[in-house]
Amino acid sequence: MGAVIAPSILSADFSRLGAEIKDAEAGGAALIHVDVMDGHFVPNLTIGPAVTKAVRRVTQLPVDCHLMIEDPDRYVQAFAEAGADMISVHVEVARHLERTVAAIKEAGAKAGVVLNPATPLDTLVEILPSADFVLLMSVNPGFGGQTLIPSVLDKAVRLREWIDRLGLATRIEIDGGVTLENVERVAATGVDVIVAGSAVFGKGDARGATSALVRKLAALAEQERRA
Ligand code: DX5
Ligand code: ZN
Repeated sequence: MGAVIAPSILSADFSRLGAEIKDAEAGGAALIHVDVMDGHFVPNLTIGPAVTKAVRRVTQLPVDCHLMIEDPDRYVQAFAEAGADMISVHVEVARHLERTVAAIKEAGAKAGVVLNPATPLDTLVEILPSADFVLLMSVNPGFGGQTLIPSVLDKAVRLREWIDRLGLATRIEIDGGVTLENVERVAATGVDVIVAGSAVFGKGDARGATSALVRKLAALAEQERRA
């Protein structure tokens, strides 16, 4: 199966967030990515449980909360109660990662672990079998609209091989710097979920932009099927 598109609302027009999400949904979005930043782990402040709850109300799609915060344990429950279906935490901050992953699952959400671009795959050795998904950052987290760091594509290929070798169902998500120009290269690494923020919401036509990305992925999946 080919990869799916997860629009990140970070680049949306927040004055009309509901309509933006509906547009992305109409364009073929598979889930809605919510970037949570605390001004400590990353130099930006964004969204908390209150807005996540509002997102939950306007869409049936899974809500994917990416926690870029220093103390994820403190907030897992709040995001789960706000309606997050998926919650991911950075390995760079979760000191007791196994416990955090267990807490996310206990709260009823899928548990993801996130790696910054410079964090090696080796950090996943012990946690991989417990994670529902791994999120590979393809930019340094904090802001939308940055350029994809190409070395992360090779990292994604190696993670795909590793997961397949172990026969795990762990899904791979990639996040940051995806554009209509590079989305095929990103998908060809074998990732399952591709986050796109500015490529979806940057030009004022979330529906058209999402469907353009989705069509590229569909064409690639068809090519792979025929090969
Ligand atoms: C970066 C966030 C990303 C970001 C993606 O810290 O985690 O989800 O919003 O935005 P683009 O697609 O514009 O790089
Ligand atoms: Zn993100």
